[in-house]
Parts: sequence; structure tokens; C-alpha cells
Amino acid sequence: MRLVITGGAGFVGSSLAVRLREALGAEVVCLDNLKRRGSELSLPRLKRHGITFVHGDVRLWDDLAALPPADVLLECSAEPSVLAGNQGQGRYLVDTNLVGAVNCCEWARQAGAAVVFLSTSRVYPYDRLRQAPLITGETRLLWQGPNLPGAGPEGVSEDFPLPGRRSLYGASKLAAELLLVEYADMYGFPYVINRCGVITGPWQFGKTDQGVFMYWLLQHYLRSPLQYIGYGGAGKQVRDLLHVDDLAELLARQITRLDVARHKTYNVGGGATNSLSLLEATDLCRSLTGHTVPIAPVPEERWADIPWYVSDCNRVEADLGWQPQRTVPQTFTEMFDWIREYREQLLSSLR
Ligand SMILES: NC(=O)c1ccc[n+]([C@@H]2O[C@H](COP(=O)([O-])OP(=O)(O)OC[C@H]3O[C@@H](n4cnc5c(N)ncnc54)[C@H](O)[C@@H]3O)[C@@H](O)[C@H]2O)c1
Repeated sequence: MRLVITGGAGFVGSSLAVRLREALGAEVVCLDNLKRRGSELSLPRLKRHGITFVHGDVRLWDDLAALPPADVLLECSAEPSVLAGNQGQGRYLVDTNLVGAVNCCEWARQAGAAVVFLSTSRVYPYDRLRQAPLITGETRLLWQGPNLPGAGPEGVSEDFPLPGRRSLYGASKLAAELLLVEYADMYGFPYVINRCGVITGPWQFGKTDQGVFMYWLLQHYLRSPLQYIGYGGAGKQVRDLLHVDDLAELLARQITRLDVARHKTYNVGGGATNSLSLLEATDLCRSLTGHTVPIAPVPEERWADIPWYVSDCNRVEADLGWQPQRTVPQTFTEMFDWIREYREQLLSSLR
């Protein structure tokens, strides 16, 4: 079996490459344009694991056309920041996330490959998610009140209504999903769409607007100041967190059970048991690093932000018997070990 992974030097793409090569014994080819700072540090890791790296850009058809044929294409390339549009990166974001994804569909059609698409919980509209009935608990916001259509204390399901504003990032990913479905229907190749909540783990190059838990831990390690942004500046906003190795185990099942997973859209995340607030993350970071850093409250929300997101993974669990195995403290501990081991490379990527 051969896998092609676009965005294959990024955090998710490179981690999936390593794990799926081990789990499936597959030949793996990773394509990436190294736009994300830190992605270049994955190249020696890919090489060590016998994975072929190709420098290329999903926006450019010729770069994809030069790839060898494969059984499965994992589309992991993206400008993955919700705030990228605000920072003047809107055109790049749409060209990569949408035009690039369409190029991947066309490539899959010609190669006769299945497509596994890494989508995002950000396809769900933020103004609707903000209607969650939340109360303020001691360390986090808690869902207390009636369910919304497609959402409740157990999380947000695939039935959550889609009309509304979702950011350029969310819209580009949803548009790519729609085109993938149509492409696959018209040309008859299998696809699976995974709408992921926060994914984290070793090898993530977290920054303020993407990879928040790694960023939080790194800032503690480096004794650098932080901010609790929005929701009164108390740090009680909640996300679920999925270790990238748990994601890899799910994708291995999807690839080997395409008869079950084909043409499905799944919400994928750590779920309610693996959710936490920033305040709770601070506690974990303090006890791991032994450092306490100043955290300034910034009461006003950031544009398109949401106070609470947890993935309801019932559908994927029912279909594939998958559940995340790694707990939040385990995941943070692994991340901390990785930060210490790769300290110098990490610091050089931040300079
Ligand atoms: N990390 C998360 O929490 C999370 C959550 C939900 C969904 N996702 C999705 O998972 C996928 C991977 O995200 P990630 O966290 O690994 O991000 P990442 O930024 O680490 O990886 C993306 C990779 O794509 C590459 N890339 C960007 N533009 C490209 C282009 N035009 N051509 C080729 N390569 C290009 C970057 O250099 C980078 O290596 C994305 O599709 C993202 O939307 C991630």
C-alpha cells in the first residue's frame, strides 16, 4: 500500500506519516511547501522513518501530477489558523485550503485513490455555537441547560446545523468538503471526512492562533507571559483535546475498513472526558514545568472565537469502535518530554 500525505511535513501530516507507516507497513510519500514555520524540522524525522519527502505546493497542479500513484491520499495541508484571514493571509488560505483540496480531488480521481480529508470543527458556525447554555464553574464553563439541535453537554455532533458565519478558514474547509463529496460521487472514489477538534501532541509547533495547548506549555517552559483572551479574561473557555497518535489509530482503522468508513463524515476529538479549560491547562503546565508565568486577563473576545467546543464522537465510535486512549495529563507529559528533548531545534524555529 502507498499513502500520499499532503501537508506531510506539518504537525498532523508528519505524525500520521510516521504512525501509519508503522501500523500499516505502508510506503509513505509526504508533500509539503514548508510554509509553516517549524515544518522543516520534521524532515530528518521523516527520513529516519523511511518516508519520502517531496517539496511541493498543493496549489500547483504540476507539483501533484509529479507524485507517484497511491492507494490513499491524506489531505493534511492547510493554512490552519482561524485568524489567518485577519492577518492579510485570506487569499493564501483560500488558495491552499480550497483550490489545493480540489487539486487533491482531481489527483485522487486520476490515481484512483481514496481521499481521507482532515477537516475541522470550525465548519460549524460560531454564532450558533455561542448559543450554548453555559454557566461559570470554578475552573471552567459548563453546559447547563437544554440541548441545542445537534449539541449538548456530551458535545457537538455531525447534525449541528450549518447555516451561519464560520470564518474564512471554516468556510474554505467546508467548501472543500462539499467539492470532495461531489467529486467522489461523480468519479466514484472513496472518501472519509474527519471534522477534528483541537489536535495536539509532540512535534506540534504551537503558536498563539493555532496549537494553543503546545503554545501554552512552551510559554510556561520558557517563562514567557500569557493572556487569557475573552470571556471576562478568566481562562474558563473549554476545548476537547485529541492526541495525534489517537488520531493516527483512527485513520488506520478508516483506511483498513473503507468498506465501513467510505463516504462518511465524522466529528473527531478527545470528547467530553478529554476536555479542559485554559485555567486547567495552566495548572497542568505549572506542575509539569515548575514555572508560574504572569497571565494577563483580556476580557474582550477575539473575532470568531467560541467559549466551548467538545466533539461528540458517537458516530465514529459506533462505526469503527474507536475511542481516544490517551488522557489529557498523559498528553501534556509527552509534550513536555518532547519540548525538553528538542529544545534547541524548537528555539531555533522560534527565532
Ligand atoms: N492541529 C489542529 O488542532 C487541527 C484541528 C482541526 C483540523 N486540523 C486540520 O489538520 C490539518 C493539519 O493541520 P496541522 O495542525 O498539522 O497544521 P500545520 O500547519 O502543522 O500543517 C499544515 C502543513 O501544510 C503545509 N502547507 C501549507 N500550505 C501549503 C501548500 N499550499 N502546499 C503544500 N503544503 C502546504 C504547511 O507547511 C504545513 O507543514 C489541516 O488541514 C487542519 O485544517 C488541525
